[in-house]
Amino acid sequence: HSYGLVNAFRNPESEFSQNARKPSKLITLRRLRNDQNEKSKETADVAGTHIGDVLGIKKSDASRNKADHEPDTSSEEKDQETTEDVEETRKSLPVYKVRSQLLQLIRENQVMIIIGETGSGKTTQLAQYLYEDGFCNDGRLIGCTQPRRVAAMSVAKRVSTEMHVELGQEVGYSIRFEDLTSPNTLIKYMTDGILLRETLLDDTLEKYSCIIIDEAHERSLNTDVLMGIFKTVLKKRTDLKIIITSATMNASKFSNFFGKAPLFTIPGRTFPVQVIYSKFPPEDYVEAAVTETVKIHLSTPIDSGDILIFMTGQEDIETTCDVIKEKLLQVYIKKYGISKFSEINDLEILPIYSALPAHIQSRIFRSTDNNKRKIVVATNIAETSLTIAGIRYVIDTGLSKLKVYNPKIGLDSLAITPIAQANANQRSGRAGRTGPGIAYRLYTEESFDDDMYVQAIPEIQRTNLSNTVLLLKSLSVSDVLKFPFIDPPPLQTLLTSLYELWSNGALDNKGCLTPLGKEMAKFPLQPSLSKILLVSAQNGCSEEMLTIVSMLSVPQVFHRPNERQEESDLARSRFFIPESDHLSLLNVYGQWRNNNFSSSWCKKHFLQYKSLVRAHDIRTQLATVMEKQGIQLVSSGSDWNIIRKCICVGFSHQAAKISGLGKYIHLRTGMDVQIHPTSALFGLGDLPPYVVYHELLMTSKEYLCCVTSVDPFWLMESGFLLYDIRRMKTDKEMNPRTYGEYDIRDDDQKGEDNLDLAIKNCIK
Ligand code: CDP
Ligand code: MG
Repeated sequence: HSYGLVNAFRNPESEFSQNARKPSKLITLRRLRNDQNEKSKETADVAGTHIGDVLGIKKSDASRNKADHEPDTSSEEKDQETTEDVEETRKSLPVYKVRSQLLQLIRENQVMIIIGETGSGKTTQLAQYLYEDGFCNDGRLIGCTQPRRVAAMSVAKRVSTEMHVELGQEVGYSIRFEDLTSPNTLIKYMTDGILLRETLLDDTLEKYSCIIIDEAHERSLNTDVLMGIFKTVLKKRTDLKIIITSATMNASKFSNFFGKAPLFTIPGRTFPVQVIYSKFPPEDYVEAAVTETVKIHLSTPIDSGDILIFMTGQEDIETTCDVIKEKLLQVYIKKYGISKFSEINDLEILPIYSALPAHIQSRIFRSTDNNKRKIVVATNIAETSLTIAGIRYVIDTGLSKLKVYNPKIGLDSLAITPIAQANANQRSGRAGRTGPGIAYRLYTEESFDDDMYVQAIPEIQRTNLSNTVLLLKSLSVSDVLKFPFIDPPPLQTLLTSLYELWSNGALDNKGCLTPLGKEMAKFPLQPSLSKILLVSAQNGCSEEMLTIVSMLSVPQVFHRPNERQEESDLARSRFFIPESDHLSLLNVYGQWRNNNFSSSWCKKHFLQYKSLVRAHDIRTQLATVMEKQGIQLVSSGSDWNIIRKCICVGFSHQAAKISGLGKYIHLRTGMDVQIHPTSALFGLGDLPPYVVYHELLMTSKEYLCCVTSVDPFWLMESGFLLYDIRRMKTDKEMNPRTYGEYDIRDDDQKGEDNLDLAIKNCIK
C-alpha cells in the first residue's frame, strides 16, 4: 500500500502526475530553482522531531533568546477583542452547546473520541472546560498535543487571552527548543513529539490528569506512536483521561483501536459548499491558481469573502503570491492609475507555511474589515489546524509536497504528490465556515476519482523510523514489531531501522539497547547525529561537532532570494570548505560568532539570521544535555581532519565512492548518485574519492545532501560491519580517482550475514 503512492506519482503514464508535472514555463522555472533551494531539510509541511523540556530547557533560556531576537508580536494584536467579545465568541462556538454532555461523557469514560468540524472549538475550548470542571484541582495538568508547532503556539496564545492570563503562566506551550511554561502552568499545549519524549522521563505521565490528542486524523508519526504508548499507560493509570479529537475522517479507526471507545460528534454549523472541478487538467497549477484567484477577486464584491489557496510548499507559495501581485497590479494600474502594489488598499496577500516566522503567521488571524479582501496562500497547514475566519472561496491545487522514504535504499523522495480525497474534502469545507462557499478544484473529477487515495498514507508508513525505534527500545519495548501500531509501518522500514541502530552500536546482538544506545536516546536528534556528538568528546572536537549538529538542525541557513540568485550563490561559496559541507557550516557559524552574532552581517552575506539564531539556541541547549551527561566540551583547534573522521563514525553507512566525472556510486546499494548543486563539493575539479553524506534526497535526481570527504581507512574502521577493503591488483583495474591503491566496496556476503544476524537477534 505504502509504495503505491510513490509508484503512482512516479508513473509517467498516470494522467494526473503527467499533468501536474508538465513542464510549462512556470513549472520549468520553478523546477530549476527547486534543485537549488530544496535543501535536504525542507520537508513536507509537517512537524518533525521535537526536542523539548526533556532537554531540561529553562524557560528563561528560550524566552530570553526570543525576546532578544524576535520582534514582539503581542503589540501588533492589541487592537483585539474586549472581554465581552471573548465571552461572546466562546459561547457562540458549536462545542459550547454540548459542554455539559461532553464533560459527563468524559467523566464516565477513560478514552473518548471527539469529532468536529474545524472551528467548532475543540482545540481552544476542551482544555478550558476540563480546567473549569476541576481536572487541575489536584495540581495535575491538562495536556494537549498538536502535530504542528505553529498550532501549539497560536492556540496557547489564544487560550491565554480567553482565560485572561499571561501566556506562559497558567496556560503555556512547549515546542522544540522553546518551552513557554512555568510551575504555574495547568493547561499545556505542546507538539506530539514533546509529549512523546516526556514519556521517556515518566512512562506513566503522572503530572497529567487528562491528555487531549488533537488533530489525530492527521496521523503524524509522533501522534501514532503516542496512541500505541497510551495503550499501556491507560492500564497503569486508571485515573488518566485521554481525549482524541479528529476531523470526520478516520474517527472510527481510533475508537476501534481503544476498544470501541465512545465517539461523540459535535453538531456542526457548516454551510453548503459548491464544488467546481476543472474541465481539463491545468497545464500548470500555479498559473491556474493565479488565474482563478484574479478572476474571483475582480468579479465578486470585496465583502463577499476571502480567498484561501492550497499550494504545495514554500517555493510555490511565494511564486503564487508574487504572480498574483503582479497580475492584479497591472489591472489596478489601468483601472485606478496607481503605480505600485503598496498603494492598493482593498487587498492583502498572505503566505502561510510552517517555516514562516511566527509574527508573520499571526497576521492571518487578524480579521480584516469589509473593505479589504484577504488572499491566503497556504500549505496543507490550513486544512485543519488553523482556523482562518471569513474564507468564502477555496482554490485547491489537489497537490501537496510529500516526503516518502524508501527503506531499501535509504532514499527520501520529496515530491509534489496528489492529496487524498479526504483532504480534498477537508480543503473544500474551509469555504463553508461563515456562509455558503465555493471550492474550485484545479483538477478534473476523474482525477479525484482515479488518482487520489480515499485516505492519506499515514506518516509512519512513509518515513525513516530509526529515531522512533530507538525511542521505543528506550521505553523497554523489546519487540518493536509487536508494538500496537494503529497502522503498522512497512516491515522493511522497521528492519532497516533496527539494522542501522545495530550497526551504529545502539543495539547489541540481542537487540537490546547498549550503554551507547541509552546515551544516544537522551538526545532528541536522529541517532547518527547523537552518535557523532557522543564520540566527539573522546576525539577532542565536541565544541565543533556541537556547532555542526546544531547547524544541521535548523532550516536552510543560506538565503537565496529570487532576484539575487547569482550574487547570493557567490556569497555562499565564500564560506565553502572544499572538502566538506559540514565544515562549511562550522565555518559560517564561526564567522558569525566572530562578528558578534550580528544580524546586519548576516544580511550582507546572504545568511538567514533567524536560522542562525535558532542554531545558536539549539547549541546552547544541546550543550546542557552534554553537560548533564558529563560529556566534556573540547575544541580541536585548527585540526579539522579529526572532525571529518568523527562525522565518518556516525555516517559510515551513508557513503559513496566516485564513479566518473562528477558522479558517485552508493557504496552499499550501488545506486548512482550525485552531489547536490548547493554543496561545497559541487563542480569541484578534483572530487574526493570517498564521501559520507547526511541525507540522500530525490527531487529531480538522486542527490547527496551535505557531504564530507573521508579517508577510506576511516570508512573501514567505523564501517567494518559493512565494508571490505581490497588491494588493487593491476594498474589497469585501478581507478586513478580511488584512494591510492585500495578500493573499498560493499561486502555483499558480510553485509547479508550481518543483516541476518542483526535482524534475527533484534526482533525475536
Ligand atoms: O479545534 P477546532 O478547529 O474545532 O476549533 P478551534 O481551533 O478551537 O477554534 C475555535 C475558534 O477560536 C475559531 O473560530 C477561532 O475564531 C478562534 N481561534 C482564534 O481566534 N485564534 C486561534 N489561534 C485559534 C482559534
Ligand atoms: Mg483544532
